Amino acid sequence: MTRKAIQFIRKGRVVELGDVGPTTTLLDHLRLAEGSVGTKEGCNEGDCGACTVALGRVRDGRLAYEPVNACIQLLGMVDGAEVVTVEDLADGGSLHPVQRAMVDLHGSQCGFCTPGFVMSLFTLYQSGVAADRDTVCDWIAGNLCRCTGYRPIVEAALASCAGAPADGFAARATETAARLNALADGADLIVGDATRFFAAPASLDALCRLLAEHPDATIVAGATDVGLWVTKQLRDLPKIVWLGRVAGLDAIDETETGIRIGAAATYDAAAAAVAAIDPDLGNLWRRIGSKQVRVSGTVGGNIANGSPIGDTPPALIALGATLELRHGDTVRRLPLEDFFLAYGRQDRAPGEVVVAVEVPRLGPADVFRCYKISKRFDQDISAVMAAIRLTLDGDRIAAARVAFGGMAGVPKRATAAEAVLAGARLGDQALPRSVRAALAEDFQPLDDMRASAAYRLDVAGSLVEKALIEVAGTPTSATRVFGLREAAVAPAA
Ligand code: FAD
Ligand code: FES
Ligand code: FES
Repeated sequence: MTRKAIQFIRKGRVVELGDVGPTTTLLDHLRLAEGSVGTKEGCNEGDCGACTVALGRVRDGRLAYEPVNACIQLLGMVDGAEVVTVEDLADGGSLHPVQRAMVDLHGSQCGFCTPGFVMSLFTLYQSGVAADRDTVCDWIAGNLCRCTGYRPIVEAALASCAGAPADGFAARATETAARLNALADGADLIVGDATRFFAAPASLDALCRLLAEHPDATIVAGATDVGLWVTKQLRDLPKIVWLGRVAGLDAIDETETGIRIGAAATYDAAAAAVAAIDPDLGNLWRRIGSKQVRVSGTVGGNIANGSPIGDTPPALIALGATLELRHGDTVRRLPLEDFFLAYGRQDRAPGEVVVAVEVPRLGPADVFRCYKISKRFDQDISAVMAAIRLTLDGDRIAAARVAFGGMAGVPKRATAAEAVLAGARLGDQALPRSVRAALAEDFQPLDDMRASAAYRLDVAGSLVEKALIEVAGTPTSATRVFGLREAAVAPAA
């Protein structure tokens, strides 16, 4: 069964659109076609949050509202969702509780960022979390305000997001969920013709058939990269194949040896499962982009884009992850590190799709550390990303897997450093220096506006040294910001 129009719920009605450009963004549709100009365009690249809207979807059987950056969300990607914008919040002339709190607590000056903040707060309100300051700061890290300052906005969030939602959206939640379930028809979606289309197959078989027919199509998962090709590089992408409706492709399963993350699983969806492998993975995941980026962007996309500065590949490589790909009917698996061939080149044929990544659990003798170095704590791309897995035998390092991002044209293992670490004693004072020398053999780092090559090499050595100190349990000062891990100790007075 094939459907020829996208469907979504808007202001209580089902909207059907059969004439949708493959790369038309949700923001352009809202502002230019619908005239809903409350949603603002700021950066047009997912960074500022001015364009934040809420998408309602049924997750684990209940309605959930997630904040997305409408500027980099393709319109077709809202198929099957409820689209909520700032215009929809007031009820019968009364402001929504988050709007009321923003007014009462003076959370707005020029007002340009305000609709985006309101929509982020709306999704926090709907989550039912009794938000504390950390939760609020995390939730709005993808919203920039240039003139009010964040204190009153945080206060407004704390005052209004205090637990179970009690607005009209919450009152209609069961009915909305039923209507969204009715839209989930399991049909393959294709809007356009054979030369120009937005497609969203409903099964893996249908996806692979379509990609075999159109190996030149652009695969889209969360569009947190592809969206920018459209808005910043102004690229014409005539054929879009979106993974968001492929049944089961977003599954996260426990396996005998670890977890299997389906290629369409978002960062947010995978966060708890990876944090259960090691808390450092949880910390890393929480620092990827912003809430808006994490509810759209996928682990599969972070791998498939082949970026040398993607955050998850070094961590997954150090853990020994395996990638599964499918081309037509042929399925193959390979160690994740072998997927990255050279800058901009991956071991993936046209029309081949990443299906899943399998991540092993740590063994009883394993310890794991990963560190992201970036200029800002939130919403920033790594200058260096380090991931270190050590297998211990008492105080001896029996084996080491160390991988870095930002140090080469691809995410890459530091094999010379691994060789130095293997067999060494944890407390060996000469070890950090030997590791630094080995890292200089392993890498000739990138030299760009994020960091110089010399800085990258230096910080890489420092991160391995930090891991050794933390694992040995001998830090003399705090090793983490915000008490992120048990290894942190109070700084000397
Ligand atoms: P998409 O944009 O949909 O696709 C990315 C690429 O992968 C495309 O080439 C696409 O064709 C291909 N692709 C996607 N899925 C598959 C598949 N299953 N099989 C084959 N090919 C596929 N990245 C970080 O690592 N850390 C950050 O902190 C971070 N912060 C960001 C902040 C902002 C504001 C933005 C806009 C981006 C940020 N990114 C960050 C980059 C981006 O979020 C990631 O690279 C993301 O993982 C891409 O996933 P996606 O699902 O959005 O991919
Ligand atoms: Fe800045 Fe969309 S306009 S995130
Ligand atoms: Fe002016 Fe936030 S109120 S940018």
